[in-house]
Amino acid sequence: MLSLLLLTFLCVSYSDQRSTPEDDSYVAAVVEYQVQSNVETNLRNYINLIQDAAFQNADIVVFPEMTLTRGNSVTVPIYGLLKDNPIPALAPELYDEILVSISAAARQNEIYVVINVQEILNCTIPQAEGENCPEQKRYLFNTNVVFNRSGAVIDRYRKINLFGEFTRTPALTPDLGVFETDFGVTFGHYICFDLMFQVPAIQVVEKMNITDVVFSTMWFSEMPYLTAVQIQQAYAHSMNVNFLAAGANNPRVGSAGSGIYSGKAGALVSIMPGQPTTRLLVATVPKVPGEVTGNIVGPIYDSPSVQDNLTLITDPSLPSHQTRLLRNDVEDFVLVDRDVLCHFRVRMSGREGNTAPFYRAFIQDGLHVYAKRNVGDVGCVIVACKTEDPKSCVYKFDDSEGQTSIEELEIKMTSYGKHYNSTLKCNDIKYRYRASAFSGVRSFSGLATGGARVCAIFACTGDTIDTCGKRFDSYSRNTTVVFEQLEITAAVPPPIRNSDLQASDSKYYPISMTTSIMPLKNEQFAFDEVSLLLVNVYSMRLRAATDELYAFGVWGRRFETDGQDPSPPREHDIEDLTTTPAPSTTPSPGSSNSVHKFSAVLLIISIFLLLKQ
Ligand SMILES: *[C@@H]1O[C@H](CO)[C@@H](O)[C@H](O)[C@H]1NC(C)=O
Ligand SMILES: *[C@@H]1O[C@H](CO)[C@@H](O)[C@H](O)[C@H]1NC(C)=O
Ligand SMILES: *[C@@H]1O[C@H](CO)[C@@H](O)[C@H](O)[C@H]1NC(C)=O
Ligand SMILES: *[C@@H]1O[C@H](CO)[C@@H](O)[C@H](O)[C@H]1NC(C)=O
Ligand SMILES: *[C@@H]1O[C@H](CO)[C@@H](O)[C@H](O)[C@H]1NC(C)=O
Ligand SMILES: *[C@@H]1O[C@H](CO)[C@@H](O)[C@H](O)[C@H]1NC(C)=O
Repeated sequence: MLSLLLLTFLCVSYSDQRSTPEDDSYVAAVVEYQVQSNVETNLRNYINLIQDAAFQNADIVVFPEMTLTRGNSVTVPIYGLLKDNPIPALAPELYDEILVSISAAARQNEIYVVINVQEILNCTIPQAEGENCPEQKRYLFNTNVVFNRSGAVIDRYRKINLFGEFTRTPALTPDLGVFETDFGVTFGHYICFDLMFQVPAIQVVEKMNITDVVFSTMWFSEMPYLTAVQIQQAYAHSMNVNFLAAGANNPRVGSAGSGIYSGKAGALVSIMPGQPTTRLLVATVPKVPGEVTGNIVGPIYDSPSVQDNLTLITDPSLPSHQTRLLRNDVEDFVLVDRDVLCHFRVRMSGREGNTAPFYRAFIQDGLHVYAKRNVGDVGCVIVACKTEDPKSCVYKFDDSEGQTSIEELEIKMTSYGKHYNSTLKCNDIKYRYRASAFSGVRSFSGLATGGARVCAIFACTGDTIDTCGKRFDSYSRNTTVVFEQLEITAAVPPPIRNSDLQASDSKYYPISMTTSIMPLKNEQFAFDEVSLLLVNVYSMRLRAATDELYAFGVWGRRFETDGQDPSPPREHDIEDLTTTPAPSTTPSPGSSNSVHKFSAVLLIISIFLLLKQ
């Protein structure tokens, strides 16, 4: 009797944990899942993770893209068999083992589950009833499947924007993924590269009036604007939605990053692991995005040196940007590219101050006359100098001249033997920074193109543009600079709502990235939008000095030019910052033809008015 009572009590209290339509919040879980190929192992892990999520009172758990089936395919007959038998766990003979097992786990744990699978649709057989079959053949799709607490399949979404994936077909019609829940939240959902496009990423929110988005992904992080957590957080911010992002984890190929974000409040929890990881992230999500109450975990950082093992690709359009090297100074200038005007205010300084003595790194590879003999001489050394001029080295200074203490000094030389690398630059171990303006078309890894409008600064490993958006192979401290002030204002054509799609034709995101390959927290910057008559002005401002930045600015997508050829590269300055005087603070020459000059003038006036306010 007692045990029966206890059991009843436990059952009641367990189901009481579920969120209801009246609650102000619900509990979400996302899984960062380490990629492995064995389906049986994955299925077992998934079931355990579903259970873990339920034990932590999650109402919904989201899994990443293609981390369950990979080679295998699943049929998801949502217009056929599933209409009469919506719960695969109750009709196991009709369905694939995967649907049956996940259905059973969702049912047993009374939790909504979103998985991603490779879906097969065999249009040569009558079972394809209710399906759109343009050709009598076999189709493969990249598909999200949603289960409710009873284990019923309640939604199926096919990826619209494939990232390569040449064996698969994009959704035959651009159907949005949307599902309702018993806790009063309606979710939109889509997959990975879809995030970059008007349909579905903008449309599902703006047309369907949705405040909560589920995202399954296997993202290939790209510097400087599109690393995983960076763009997830920026999307949640700009769209003002709750964003449940589950990422496949395979750092060796560049996939990592998951989080739960709430509008302008930023990450309730987020991770960007540089090493193989499976991890369940759980957070209480306010139903009104951004209205966070109570404690949150926030971003969980991996140390920057762990990120050495995370492969990062580089935005191939950087050479097409209008750029300018930044110096350790106070600078205030404008860059213009077609219909984008960027105003920069920067106060940047080196880490260790600019006072004497100066140190210079030398690399030497040559002949030396020593005791009347030619002697081969190879070296990588750091020496003290009197001034910035290399001729003032080596200098023997006395104690009154400098207080520099060298706390850490490590010199690695790769030299003769099997290899000699003539591009090795011992004296070049600090990041340079460039300011950039861009309005044009970029390529996404050669697999698609899309319009972009950007005002940003980013780190480079050298003086030339091809070194930008890159990271040194191994992290070392004090290679970035200190930004005491950083304010970037972008004046751009105002977004226009496409009335057919019921979605904006462009979108602007606050982007930032630090040495841990994570964005700044939302309280560390201010992002504002002002609509003027003919322009929208977005400003992105640092709230406090920061010394770990790789990128910062306003990154926008313009959807109208998607599919066009990428913008060609252009010339970039490679001035020597130690000798050239500061350039004037006018738009760079060659950045605009006469047509664009007119709009540039217009934009400058608007900016001027704005800043005067
Ligand atoms: C599709 O169905 C046909 C007819 O049953 C069958 O012959 C074919 O092997 C199926 N194709 C696949 C890929 O399952
Ligand atoms: C799950 O979905 C099925 C089919 O739509 C429905 O009959 C059932 O009531 C739902 N269960 C819950 C708990 O919402
Ligand atoms: C959109 O949703 C908000 C609340 O989330 C509501 O106030 C508004 O009326 C809705 N608009 C439409 C067009 O459904
Ligand atoms: C990075 O990868 C190397 C080689 O695969 C491994 O030895 C090292 O432990 C990894 N470092 C971290 C921090 O995971
Ligand atoms: C030489 O050094 C550069 C810069 O570190 C590196 O990218 C390149 O791979 C090296 N080449 C060889 C042959 O080691
Ligand atoms: C590196 O920076 C830290 C703080 O950012 C400082 O404490 C340390 O002294 C610096 N080290 C060197 C070698 O400049």
